[in-house]
Amino acid sequence: MKGLILSGGAGTRLRPITHTSAKQLVPIANKPILFYGIEAMAKAGIKEIGIIIGETGKEIRAAVGDGSQFGVKVTYIPQDAPLGLAHCVLIAHDFLGDEDFVMYLGDNMLEQGLTSFVDDFKNARAAGGPKAPTAQILLCHVENPKQFGVAEVDKDGHVVRLVEKPENPPSDLALVGVYLFDKTINEAVRSIKPSPRGELEITDAIQWLVDEKKVVHHQVLQGWWIDTGKKDPLLECNRLVLEVLEPRNDGEVDSASQIEGRVVIEKGAVIKGSRIRGPVVIGSGSVVDHSYIGPYTSLGRNCKVEHSEMEHSVVLDGSSIIGIARLTDSLIGRDVAVTRSEQKPRALRLMLGDDSKVELE
Ligand code: G1P
Repeated sequence: MKGLILSGGAGTRLRPITHTSAKQLVPIANKPILFYGIEAMAKAGIKEIGIIIGETGKEIRAAVGDGSQFGVKVTYIPQDAPLGLAHCVLIAHDFLGDEDFVMYLGDNMLEQGLTSFVDDFKNARAAGGPKAPTAQILLCHVENPKQFGVAEVDKDGHVVRLVEKPENPPSDLALVGVYLFDKTINEAVRSIKPSPRGELEITDAIQWLVDEKKVVHHQVLQGWWIDTGKKDPLLECNRLVLEVLEPRNDGEVDSASQIEGRVVIEKGAVIKGSRIRGPVVIGSGSVVDHSYIGPYTSLGRNCKVEHSEMEHSVVLDGSSIIGIARLTDSLIGRDVAVTRSEQKPRALRLMLGDDSKVELE
């Protein structure tokens, strides 16, 4: 079985961070979101992974390389324009051939790994016969089904209908960004027409399978699932991942500092006269000086936090937070400086990128 990861999206809802970097490489607990997906595939026994890349392809290639760091072989498949998830399957045909595959959206994170999901499909296919599935989808009960692809399942557990972003959702079961297919999907993606948003929808391709009387299995997800494409879900995901972190200290902590709870201090990080209350991760080479870092914070590499208090935030590499009384619920990009100035007149002095958002107290 092969793997297909979709990493072509532009990440417009995470601007300005995504003006300069790929949304799939934004870190959760200091590890790029995309790496969690690749690792989950590797763990499920998948050795060959195709990654669909778009405008940010160069950066994704640089981070993932040939896949050997994950024990897999990666093939990059460029997509010229974001024409839909089913379009990704269409252009991946040379890579996929006629093999079964698992498709995964590169900005989705699941608590449950992929292993049992992949194994169930493999076993059901190996059993053969008319009941062998051609596809398997993963569903999750959500509060806002209008924002997703939605499945209707009958009382016998059969998937009877799928609709993308429905006005009147037939259920609260959203399609999670993980799908398993056999080669029949290749015919399905060639048979459907673009949706009103101009994309070839994978939801429509699966509906085509249902219409052709193919067997589509489903599972309802255990545990959490987050589409990390926006700031608040991303911070929530960071919180959930930090919650299960194994504490360790590979840095330097002076005797005037207090470390409480689950805290990871990476190599070369220095904590002076500060209190760190986990779950928190402090990246290598970062310095925390006379500051408080509170729960659910991921501080990247080579950052500086001085005379400041912060919590529930994600800070990317090379940024500094100096003299800030309280910073919370924030996503801060790379090489950003948040400082307090003694300059008169007292005022806010800002240089913000396009699509920045600043919430003052
Ligand atoms: C896509 C799919 C949708 C699915 C969602 C999961 O939506 O089209 O069916 O529920 O991913 O994240 P999009 O992110 O393209 O709006």
